[in-house]
Amino acid sequence: ESASARELVLSELVTVPDFPEPGIRFRDLTPAFANPHAFRVIVDTLTAKCGAIDAVAGVEARGFLLAAAAAYATDTSLLAIRKKGKLPGSVLTESYDLEYGNDALEISPDHAPPGTRVLLVDDVLATGGTLAAAARLLTRAEYVVAGVGVVLELAELNGRSALPGQDIHAILTL
Ligand code: PRP
Repeated sequence: ESASARELVLSELVTVPDFPEPGIRFRDLTPAFANPHAFRVIVDTLTAKCGAIDAVAGVEARGFLLAAAAAYATDTSLLAIRKKGKLPGSVLTESYDLEYGNDALEISPDHAPPGTRVLLVDDVLATGGTLAAAARLLTRAEYVVAGVGVVLELAELNGRSALPGQDIHAILTL
């Protein structure tokens, strides 16, 4: 990946011990998003690493920050993948496992035509459960996942294995 984007993320990344619970090392990317140059480089890098796209999908909540900017920058559709219970009407739902219990993501289908090529973005790839559920939603909506882009990949959690066959780009891998 681009050295400058990687270096920018690395320099802005803040690791917070014991947040939100004891034993968790929280990776905080909000300083990178607050740095206008870093944010622009992050969004431009994510959108440059996939082929032609028609839409950008982001996962609530932190993925929305990136997806909105990426959709605007590429003049493509913005697709919101929300936590369950937030979208009205008929929705598609996919569950995923958390450390304790599980949660679910939802999408409103029919906001883009079948075959729409979607860049799926989020801030962090950890276990991959979130992005795998998001990718399943996009597939069920009859879209094509053209690429998966994240700012930070935590390699020890092997999230890539949850996304077989996907073209995954991480700006920084730790
Ligand atoms: C975080 C992060 C990713 C996900 C990564 O979101 O923003 O979406 O966890 O973890 P995984 O790869 O193990 O699934 P979180 O669920 O904390 O929600 P938030 O964006 O609303 O803070």
